[in-house]
Amino acid sequence: MKIKSAEFVLSAAEVSACPRSSLPEFAFIGRSNVGKSSLINLLTGRHDLARTSATPGKTVLMNFFKVNGEWLLVDLPGYGFAKVSRTQRAEFGETTADYLEERESLACVFVLIDSRIEPQKIDLRFIQWLDEIDVAFALVFTKTDKQTAGHTQRAVNAFLAAVQPFCEEPPPYFLTSTKTGAGRGEILSAIGKLSAAN
Ligand code: GTP
Ligand code: MG
Repeated sequence: MKIKSAEFVLSAAEVSACPRSSLPEFAFIGRSNVGKSSLINLLTGRHDLARTSATPGKTVLMNFFKVNGEWLLVDLPGYGFAKVSRTQRAEFGETTADYLEERESLACVFVLIDSRIEPQKIDLRFIQWLDEIDVAFALVFTKTDKQTAGHTQRAVNAFLAAVQPFCEEPPPYFLTSTKTGAGRGEILSAIGKLSAAN
């Protein structure tokens, strides 16, 4: 897929404020600092579309972007801040939880995972919950330039083994680096296929 245009649409703090649009939607989420904003900029080829920062937790709203006039890209708030949560869904943020449960045009959630670290409980809980609420997702292992391909593959294998107990089939995954551009073509091509199917 060639990116012809990518524009900011709006920021929303709740589902009722999301764009009224039936375009297929692709959301990006992960723990803070995993590289969401950087990846969104890489995918769209716009270096300042989603703000990147070295300070975790900058993104507190759901940010919507329209790409090629054909699909929406959503930068969801990072999870992993709540120290105590009364319910499973509250751990990922009520806004995010409502969005994931209610948004009808949501085609796929890309869950970003830092490729350098062992499987984190919160990521595993999030994926288990996505599976329970029946939302389609793919994994994106970020920052692969920071280590050897062998280390990345071992991390991927460890993660797939950790989700195996609750995922019927191994989830699709992508390996990315915003430094080398790795994974960009593969993710855009997957979005293109899913958009055409929606
Ligand atoms: P919040 O919105 O703050 O939760 O963070 P985020 O997930 O949007 O992460 P962001 O894109 O701001 O990146 C966090 C840090 O990781 C920044 O310093 C980025 O430059 C760095 N980073 C992101 N992706 C990569 C990558 O693929 N390779 C390397 N080497 N650094 C990366
Ligand atoms: Mg961000």
